[in-house]
Amino acid sequence: MEQWVRMLVFLILMPMVTLTEESSLPLCYWKNKGFTENGFQKVACAKCYAYMHTSNFVPGRKARLVEATLLNVGNITVEANFTLPHRQLIQTFSSESAVDKWTECCIKAAQCCTDMTNNVNIANGSDWCPWTWDGWLCWPQTPPGSTAQRPCPSFIRFGTTEHNCDCKVH
Ligand SMILES: *[C@@H]1O[C@H](CO)[C@@H](O)[C@H](O)[C@H]1NC(C)=O
Ligand SMILES: *[C@@H]1O[C@H](CO)[C@@H](O)[C@H](O)[C@H]1NC(C)=O
Ligand SMILES: *[C@@H]1O[C@H](CO)[C@@H](O)[C@H](O)[C@H]1NC(C)=O
Repeated sequence: MEQWVRMLVFLILMPMVTLTEESSLPLCYWKNKGFTENGFQKVACAKCYAYMHTSNFVPGRKARLVEATLLNVGNITVEANFTLPHRQLIQTFSSESAVDKWTECCIKAAQCCTDMTNNVNIANGSDWCPWTWDGWLCWPQTPPGSTAQRPCPSFIRFGTTEHNCDCKVH
């Protein structure tokens, strides 16, 4: 009898322990939604692809985002993994430089996630705006009453191979 009770308590508590462990992992924020590092990279890189202008793709070939991390390319569904991109996903891009732009966005997002998790304990007051990746840019923790400013991302190029946007985003 006692054994049964112990077993029951164990079975009830086990998922709770697992949940607690997961929620204590440092999270990366994509538009204020928290993800673990791996989940964040998948979401951010898929969105980097989805946000790219159609001029970067072979006409009519741009893959459709079907779930947060999945892209539908013709008859298959793939993850947007820039370290090992699926051949059919690469074939949707119209040029090498378009592939580079996508890769650069995914790398910047991954870097942002690293910065967020490394600085998770350096909070200067709970009223600061938290770190966030907004889909294109990484925003650091920012104190209240101030405005953060970021240069236009280098992977945003319109009809040129060189970065041609000197604007600031705030
Ligand atoms: C991308 O693929 C590589 C090789 O399979 C894997 O090691 C890596 O974890 C994947 N990245 C993500 C974000 O899932
Ligand atoms: C999926 O599409 C590819 C490329 O268009 C083609 O080679 C392949 O045969 C197709 N597979 C199926 C199961 O339809
Ligand atoms: C918090 O304040 C300290 C001291 O003013 C500063 O060195 C540090 O960079 C600040 N943290 C952030 C995240 O800005």
